Amino acid sequence: MKNNKKKGSSRAQEPQIAVNPEEERARAIETGDFSKFNDEAEALYEQRLRDLQAEADRSLPPDPDALLEVRHLKMYFPLKKTITGKVTLSLRAVDDVSFKLHAGETLGIVGESGCGKTTMGRAILKLYKPTGGQIFFDGADIAQYKSKQMRPLRTKMQIIFQDPYSSLPPRSTVGGILSEPVKVHAIVPKEQTKDYVLSIMEQCGLRDYYYERYPHEFSGGQRQRICIARALSVNPKLVICDEPVSALDVSIQAQIINLLKHLQQQRGLTYVFISHDLSVVKHISDRIGVMYLGSMVEFGSKKSIFSNPMHPYTKALFSAVPNPNPDVKMDRIVLKGDIPSPANPPKGCKFHTRCPVAQEICKHIAPKYREYEPGHFVACHCYPQEDQ
Ligand SMILES: Nc1ncnc2c1ncn2[C@@H]1O[C@H](COP(=O)(O)OP(=O)(O)O)[C@@H](O)[C@H]1O
Ligand code: SF4
Ligand SMILES: [Mg+2]
Repeated sequence: MKNNKKKGSSRAQEPQIAVNPEEERARAIETGDFSKFNDEAEALYEQRLRDLQAEADRSLPPDPDALLEVRHLKMYFPLKKTITGKVTLSLRAVDDVSFKLHAGETLGIVGESGCGKTTMGRAILKLYKPTGGQIFFDGADIAQYKSKQMRPLRTKMQIIFQDPYSSLPPRSTVGGILSEPVKVHAIVPKEQTKDYVLSIMEQCGLRDYYYERYPHEFSGGQRQRICIARALSVNPKLVICDEPVSALDVSIQAQIINLLKHLQQQRGLTYVFISHDLSVVKHISDRIGVMYLGSMVEFGSKKSIFSNPMHPYTKALFSAVPNPNPDVKMDRIVLKGDIPSPANPPKGCKFHTRCPVAQEICKHIAPKYREYEPGHFVACHCYPQEDQ
């Protein structure tokens, strides 16, 4: 075709990578002069480096000790497409997230509303088709599994939602709600279904006469117990708890958290516990991941994250947790502005527009996500970016 060099062709619009981005980057870092720095080219360069890393990591075997291992997970939602279907703008709800979770542990995921917690949980369960990355569950990469391949795994991975009001069918009795998945997945012989359901109800603190009752007859806390019982009825290994107590009264929250902890000990469950409430996460988690605008900015054991929070975003979140000791002065770090749109995230470090300690380099170059103490990962220019 004659026209392939016309102005509007997608090739002509593609931002050009700097002749030698590494040199340009090294020069800017050394001189501290970013005035001629090409941010577009740097963003593309970073993207390519990340893609290359993801490709290189693909062939690595999964960690045999991890029940769940997520590598370079991406979940982009297309916002604009050309008439030929090419995506020209996407919302990067989850952007290159990696972590490992051992069986029987709880990973708490924290971050402000809109930072991608729910999307990540849903992508892990394959309720969305991930845009990229690997999801090893029990040693098998399920990221590209089709729904038929996922079917036998559905019982092994369950989710508990935030809103116990809308997540239960109003016209079924508690017995009906809990029996259905047990029958569909043939968890026990048919004639044992009722006894089995009653035993699950008992474990979840539900009286046996609730069996004939309807969801509307219960309070929020009781409904969440029904949701937990439904998730557990199919014997899962992994449960994603998406803000399971956020809609409940504070007095009820502790009961549900304690129930989840008790069930975990009894059944060896592994939890991904999503919450914006740090005190709840502190109570239940073994490991903590802090998300900002689709990225994991800090990850580590509860002890290392609470005793030594390193990322300025984590520090700001922690500074907002009320201290029960009235003698301890609260030094609250107030973040400026709203969380930016994941459709158009800031260049460089995505947090630089709100970070109280941002430097010039943060506006142009994304920090590396590096391990600073065993199992403690951080992405921030405040810490060495290369091996010393
Ligand atoms: N189905 C969807 N289509 C398009 N955008 C979505 C969809 N689901 C979530 N998002 C967007 O993805 C971002 C992350 O959302 P979410 O995962 O719900 O965050 P969180 O759970 O941390 O509050 C938000 O900007 C949200 O608007
Ligand atoms: S990289 Fe810079 S902007 Fe980002 S968190 Fe660290 S100091 Fe703040
Ligand atoms: Mg959410």
